[in-house]
Amino acid sequence: MDAFLTHHIVRFIAINVWCFSVFAFYRYGNANVWKTFTDLFDYFPLTALVESEIFCLHGGLSPTIETLDDIRNFDRVQEVPHEGAMCDLLWSDPDDRCGWGISPRGAGYTFGQDISEQFNHTNNLNLIARAHQLVMEGFNWAHDQKVVTIFSAPNYCYRCGNMASILEVDDAKDRTFIQFEPAPRRGEPDVTRRTPDYFL
Ligand SMILES: *[C@@H]1O[C@H](CO)[C@@H](O)[C@H](O)[C@H]1NC(C)=O
Repeated sequence: MDAFLTHHIVRFIAINVWCFSVFAFYRYGNANVWKTFTDLFDYFPLTALVESEIFCLHGGLSPTIETLDDIRNFDRVQEVPHEGAMCDLLWSDPDDRCGWGISPRGAGYTFGQDISEQFNHTNNLNLIARAHQLVMEGFNWAHDQKVVTIFSAPNYCYRCGNMASILEVDDAKDRTFIQFEPAPRRGEPDVTRRTPDYFL
C-alpha cells in the first residue's frame, strides 16, 4: 500500500510540476515565474516546534539527527537532497519494529518506538506530529502516543475516501483533533467516484 501510494504521489507531483512549468512558460513566455516559485520552496521551513514540546514535521526522524540544534544548523536554502538528514525529515515513517529500518517507500527511514522515545527525551519534547501517510480517520497514534500522524487532505486524490484532521492546541496545551470530510463539489454529489485521468 505504501509503495503504491508513493508511486502515485511521485506521479502526482511530477505531473503537477510539469503542468505548472508548462503553464508558467506559456503564460509568461519564459521560465522565470516557475523558477521563482521553485526557489521560494527552498526557503520553506522543514520543521516547527510548538510551545517547545510538539515537534512538527512532514516525515520523521533521521539516524543522523540527535537534537533540534542539529536541524537549526542546517543550511536550509537548497533543494531537499535525495538522501541525508534533510531528506529523512521529509520522508521517514514510524514503524512497529524497534530501531531504524530501510524505508520501503524509497526515501528516508522507518523508526521504532525506542527511537521516538530517545528523541523525545533528548529534546525534552512531548509529541512528534507528522503527516506523510494516509490515515483513514485523519489522525493516527503511534509509539505509545509519542508520535501522531495527521493527514489533512480529505478524500485524498478524490478517491481514497479518508477523513482529514487538524490538531488544535489551546492555551492550556490541551489537544483536540478536528476531523473533517471533503466539501461537496457542485454537481457532483459523490466526490469519491471522481478519479482524475492520470490515476487510471
Ligand atoms: C517525553 O520526554 C519528556 C522529557 O523527558 C517526558 O517528560 C515526557 O513524558 C515524554 N513524553 C512521552 C509522551 O513519553
